[in-house]
Amino acid sequence: MSPTGNVSAVRGHAVSFKADPFHSDDVLVDIEDALVVSEDGLITAFGPYEETRQHVPEGVEIAHLPGSVICPGFIDTHVHYVQTGIIGAFGSQLIDWLNHYTFIEEQRFADAGHAADVARVYFDELLRNGTTTAVTFCAVYPQSVDAFFEESERRGTRMIGGKVLMDRNAPDALLDTAQSGYDDSKALIAKWHGNGRQLYAITPRFAPTSTPEQLELAGTLWQESPGTFMHTHVSENLGEIQWVHSLFPDRKGYLDVYDHYGLLGRRAVLAHGVHLTASERRRVSETETAIAHCPTSNLFLGSGLFHVHDAKDAKHPMHVGLGTDIGAGTSFSILATMNEAYKVAELLSYPMNSLKSFYLATLGGARALDLEDKIGSLEVGKEADFVVLDPAATPLLAYRSARAESTEELLFVLSIMSDDRTVAATYSGGRLVHARKES
Ligand code: GUN
Ligand code: ZN
Repeated sequence: MSPTGNVSAVRGHAVSFKADPFHSDDVLVDIEDALVVSEDGLITAFGPYEETRQHVPEGVEIAHLPGSVICPGFIDTHVHYVQTGIIGAFGSQLIDWLNHYTFIEEQRFADAGHAADVARVYFDELLRNGTTTAVTFCAVYPQSVDAFFEESERRGTRMIGGKVLMDRNAPDALLDTAQSGYDDSKALIAKWHGNGRQLYAITPRFAPTSTPEQLELAGTLWQESPGTFMHTHVSENLGEIQWVHSLFPDRKGYLDVYDHYGLLGRRAVLAHGVHLTASERRRVSETETAIAHCPTSNLFLGSGLFHVHDAKDAKHPMHVGLGTDIGAGTSFSILATMNEAYKVAELLSYPMNSLKSFYLATLGGARALDLEDKIGSLEVGKEADFVVLDPAATPLLAYRSARAESTEELLFVLSIMSDDRTVAATYSGGRLVHARKES
């Protein structure tokens, strides 16, 4: 399966999206026997094997994976690498969970060596789960951001990350100031944004942990830094929303705090949005802000049910991607995240089919991030980030998959029954960056 030099060629059943299944019917590129060829990080040929094999340079071995499903690399639109060590912390809702676990754990990232160790584990997990792009919270310390991007550089991945900004309502050791947060973020943008495949996100943690001065400077910095992202949390938990009302009494609501400081727009990514009101959803839509739907986290912390079909309502459609939100989320697997997203949609009586789930995890995520010209689908000229899924990864999955009568059914089974074992291989920039160990 290993590529020859900077060229790779992978053959199998390929699926990719050309349109949004929330709004159209003819959306899937579905090629039973396909070939994906990449060179110098980009897809150079993609199509039916017989028509495409002429594009494989002489001497390049084709990795033939009959029975497997090749799809674009998964995009995790919201995750905290610095919380890798506190997944599965027992028993509390958002604010208690932050105080008891998160704010303790994140202090350890002042130590650059610790940050580098955790970054390695984090990237191993991402790639083992087929995630090739992740919009990532680091900690408040610039060295935690360096560790993240240095590891991403080593893996050759397209990643988005940033230093947390927080200047109140957290332990002193975790606080910056409005000015130091601005200065440190500006220096990190100069160092990392657009450096190879790395992209920077200005990252106020959430409204309660930033003063108005800090949010003001975050907005200024975002304006001054074209192409950067803005990444935060919004309307996750009812107690949190009340807190925001008391901290910002002059604002109309939680979303309006970010709006007031110029923090909504294309390349703004807000995690959760579970309790957004109808007028807030309209504002998210008109500003082209993206929401990260994080079902495993929303269930784990008892935050609530995100109404993805309301979010994608054709009259006021929002950009939506899937997020694991590790460590409040319970799995690095975007496939496992699809499983929970399906159940949440069922509880809201809007069943989500597999085309919608796989779209949100690939092209939908790329569009939410304004990166659809680079990632999210199998197309010539796009970056060669893709995964090889194994429908026979476990005996039960093999048994069930063999009974699937359509690609849509096969994808549904994969989305409901999977974890990291289903990911046989992950390619980033055409390079094999994860191959499942055969037992
Ligand atoms: N809101 C503010 N910080 C966090 C965090 O670390 N995780 C989650 N789930 N929500 C938050
Ligand atoms: Zn989060």
